[in-house]
Amino acid sequence: MAEARYVRRFGRVERIQHLVLFVTFLGLAATGLPLLFSDAAWAPPLAQLFGGFGVTGTLHRLFAVGLIGVFLVHVASVTVRVVRGERGILWGPTSLVPQPRDIVELYRHVRWFLRRGPKPAFDRYTYWEKFDYLAVFWGMVIIGFSGLMLWFPELFARVLPGWVFNVALLVHGEEALLAVGFIVTIHFFNSHMRPHKFPMDMVMFTGVVPEEEYARERPLEYERLRATSALEARLAPPPDPDFVRRTRLGGFVAIAVGSILFLLIVFAVLSR
Ligand code: HEM
Repeated sequence: MAEARYVRRFGRVERIQHLVLFVTFLGLAATGLPLLFSDAAWAPPLAQLFGGFGVTGTLHRLFAVGLIGVFLVHVASVTVRVVRGERGILWGPTSLVPQPRDIVELYRHVRWFLRRGPKPAFDRYTYWEKFDYLAVFWGMVIIGFSGLMLWFPELFARVLPGWVFNVALLVHGEEALLAVGFIVTIHFFNSHMRPHKFPMDMVMFTGVVPEEEYARERPLEYERLRATSALEARLAPPPDPDFVRRTRLGGFVAIAVGSILFLLIVFAVLSR
């Protein structure tokens, strides 16, 4: 039997950036939530797991360095590609920047959900993937900036009035709840729980997708690759089954950790 063909969707650098992003994010959530809900029954044992509330705060800052680091590396690498004149990053069918066609696709998709029209044909990125991507940007600005204010109050107090720190503390905690809630419900569902992705979409680990799946899910990009003969260059061997097994286990651990943190939030809010 002929071996199934795979299409490369993400390169090594993108996959490593996503890995660092989700490990540091979950680490920040796991170490931040016991501080936010320190009066909840589960907070002291969770903090104790890390070595006490003091160590939890220190770990939170370490994870923050990792998250801010990967964010800056990503922004710098995109900037370099744009400055070098690489096309298709800021606009066009391969760009992650929202464009008028995304509104049309959203409209058609809703019609399809309501059985009022055919499924829209998507290109390299769907409207909900662009939303997920951009959410990291405004999330980083809000949570990163307020977090740095909490970390270095003396520095920021040189230029900012005292009340701003109360706002920063409030904003930091609320944005954390929004981010964890969004990732665990919308992002996990969109990426892994849709019927033909369940139980897990492995593309962010392996970087590749079976060719027939790519043609079905991203027909516009697939047809363009075929028409310009660029498809051959994007074909890849099937992922190593051992690698798939190990990373799938890692993925399940991440989903489990995120879901447990989400349930702890719900429990803490309901029992207040
Ligand atoms: C990215 C850069 C971030 C920085 C620099 C940062 C920094 C900080 C600092 C310094 C504190 C105070 C810790 C203490 O009292 O010992 C804090 C608290 C907290 N952080 Fe972050 N953090 C960041 C990201 C995040 C993320 C991504 C989340 C969750 C997803 C998060 C959730 C929290 C929560 C829930 C608290 C407790 C707030 C409260 O006590 O009201 N942080 N953060």
